[in-house]
Amino acid sequence: MRILLCGGAGYIGCHTYTVLVERGHQVVIADNFANSSPQVLARLEQVTGKPVPFHPLDMRDRPGVDAFFARQTFDAVVHFAALKAVGESCERPLDYFENNISGTIYLLQAMRAAGVPRLVFSSSATVYGEPESVPVREDAPLRVTNPYGRTKLVMEELIGDVCRADPHFRAANLRYFNPVGAHASGLLGEDPSDTPSNLMPYICQVAVGRREKLRIFGGDYPTPDGTGVRDYIHVMDLARAHADALDYLVNEDRNLTVNLGTGRGISVMELVHAFAKASSREVPYEIVDRRPGDAAEVYADPALAQRLLGWRAELDVDAMCRDAWRWQSMNPYGYAAGRVEEDRVEEAVSLV
Ligand code: NAD
Ligand code: UD1
Repeated sequence: MRILLCGGAGYIGCHTYTVLVERGHQVVIADNFANSSPQVLARLEQVTGKPVPFHPLDMRDRPGVDAFFARQTFDAVVHFAALKAVGESCERPLDYFENNISGTIYLLQAMRAAGVPRLVFSSSATVYGEPESVPVREDAPLRVTNPYGRTKLVMEELIGDVCRADPHFRAANLRYFNPVGAHASGLLGEDPSDTPSNLMPYICQVAVGRREKLRIFGGDYPTPDGTGVRDYIHVMDLARAHADALDYLVNEDRNLTVNLGTGRGISVMELVHAFAKASSREVPYEIVDRRPGDAAEVYADPALAQRLLGWRAELDVDAMCRDAWRWQSMNPYGYAAGRVEEDRVEEAVSLV
């Protein structure tokens, strides 16, 4: 298939690119680098050995989105492009609504006008808010606790309405739990532009010496060791699920909403210990107050994805930590490696 990855230069998008190319698809990336670096494209060329088809595009630019779809043909779009920082979304809700929701509306309009029949959408476990019980199934009540979460829920709903209005349009909502880890090459990984708010990138920056210590938010949760429990999933397992979801939309010709997690809850403390073991580094920490809005325990029931897609997570927490550490230790300051790579970006890209 010829597949467009909107937001494909980001953390999950670039890993998914490698899997789709490996499976023989023709893949194009569109991004505005709001939260990513053009140097990702040079790394992707290095990993895949082929120039990376790229189009600079801001999803908020409706005429730009329309014009791009008017001249290109795609069999499917994977839509990663969104702003994703929960705290920032509380400070700037309208920017989040404009970027995430308007951007999705413009994308769907352009796809319909151009007759692109399939969409895979990056949703999130955030749509479950603080779940009543774990493991969380797809039919659990949906409720959101912040503007970022609201954009994900609204986008799922509007994609559902478009599917109902057009019986030939097919969409997959993939509800990611907590993506971590990196490509086995050490060339691709998570590179937060600000102070990381998520746990794994923070641990990585402590281990590599960029930050003094981890602050563990809450040691008094009703969990086995008192720290918060989440469902961390290796980004390469997640990437593979996108390829499987695309196959499902083509072969089964049905819409899909599935959790993507391992089904195993890991506590903050367990992750810290696993990381220290994988990296042979100390991860100094202190336990501080809970972070407002955090649930004690969130992990997926991934049975539906296994049943419908034949997909299950294969990489365990040790692999997640080992790969995250390889990436961080090879790239202590992320993609900001300097001029040599900047010069390489132009050569690595074929503009579409
Ligand atoms: P990311 O920020 O690394 O990637 C998103 C990409 O979209 C970036 O390259 C960014 O530049 C681009 N983008 C943002 N707004 C854009 C716009 N208006 N036009 C063009 N490009 C734009 O984030 P990620 O971790 O790779 O997440 C990908 C998707 O998965 C997002 O939709 C996110 O909400 C969702 N998600 C992420 C997580 C997570 O923990 N990483 C969890 C659940 C869901
Ligand atoms: C957060 C977001 C959620 C988003 C998800 C994946 C909030 C309230 N929720 O969820 O919307 O979908 O990321 O991007 O921000 N922790 C620490 N110290 C840290 C960072 C985290 O102890 O410095 C703890 C947290 O309290 C939590 C666990 O680590 O128990 C995981 O945190 P995080 O990586 O932020 O993910 P979520 O809380 O699941």
